Amino acid sequence: MSDLDGLVSRALAAFSAAGDAASLENEKARFRADLSAFQKTLGSLPAEDRKAAGAAFNGAKQKIEAALEARRVELADAKLSARLAEDALDVTLPPRGRGRGGVHPVVRTWQRIEAIWRSIGFDVADGPEIETDWYNFTALNNPENHPARSMQDTFYVDLKDKDGLPLLLRTHTSPMQVRYARMHKPPIKVIALGRTYRVDSDATHSPMFHQVEGLWIDEHISFADLKGVYTEFLRRFFESDDLAVRFRPSFFPFTEPSAEIDMKLKGRWLEISGSGQVHPQVVKNFGLDPEKYIGFAFGSGLERLTMLRYGIDDLRLFFDGDLRFLEQFS
Ligand code: FA5
Ligand code: MG
Repeated sequence: MSDLDGLVSRALAAFSAAGDAASLENEKARFRADLSAFQKTLGSLPAEDRKAAGAAFNGAKQKIEAALEARRVELADAKLSARLAEDALDVTLPPRGRGRGGVHPVVRTWQRIEAIWRSIGFDVADGPEIETDWYNFTALNNPENHPARSMQDTFYVDLKDKDGLPLLLRTHTSPMQVRYARMHKPPIKVIALGRTYRVDSDATHSPMFHQVEGLWIDEHISFADLKGVYTEFLRRFFESDDLAVRFRPSFFPFTEPSAEIDMKLKGRWLEISGSGQVHPQVVKNFGLDPEKYIGFAFGSGLERLTMLRYGIDDLRLFFDGDLRFLEQFS
């Protein structure tokens, strides 16, 4: 085998042994150097041999270039296929699917309450969660030193109202009685739902919870109306006439007489609502004459109603965000 044939077969072997583009280009540099060294020897040949040797050299050089180009293409193809295999998408796999959202059980209760009271002719109102001391306490006949006003029970905001008193997160929806009644003429029939806040936390108390306030003021609305209308609401909310409900005498500064409303959950009474005949001083604060206008109010806990409806004994489950719990309601 001539030197030239040896060079070609060594180059071809080296190219096919190169496993990637970088080592292939290294081999190319080596054989180009060998080729040009060989080319230099042609000048020293006798003139009659030079033509044939030159043709043989060109042939060898072309073979090497062609083999180099073929191996380049081969390596690039292999690299592409490897990447495609890595990124492979199996279009026959079943789709992951979009998770379906659901309505939170307390929001569902909110919607049901709204629908029921609307159908009994009540308007639905909405008001601020950050309240003034006057609407949350004073207008509702709370004496200045009432314990509900203390830091232990109420979240205060680092801002003052126009009377210089700190604003607070409303502790109940009752300020909505005052806000609504001062803007409407009797007969007043309204509910107001929303978030309320207290420094409270256990299985039946959450620092943020929801209440629905109800107010019916006219010339002859009595405690008997409260009992009748509220019981009708409960029958429709629980879709049952067979309910264990009791009105238990209680005290609120803004109602007289007052009652707590309890229902049975797993053999125990659970308080769901405060209620009563609106106190004459509060009717006055509505801007109405208490000699003429009378009526009832109630404030019920939405979490408690939801617990009773579904038999849940720990209200913290509503706020943990655990999908295993929440998915049972969607
Ligand atoms: C009140 O808030 C009165 N404003 C209710 C009222 C309105 C009385 C109108 C008379 C006239 P009370 O503090 O009892 O009352 O709360 C009412 C209901 O809210 C309770 O029966 C309970 O269902 C719910 N509740 C109170 N605190 C919490 C809490 N921390 N977490 C969850 N629910 C609560
Ligand atoms: Mg109570």
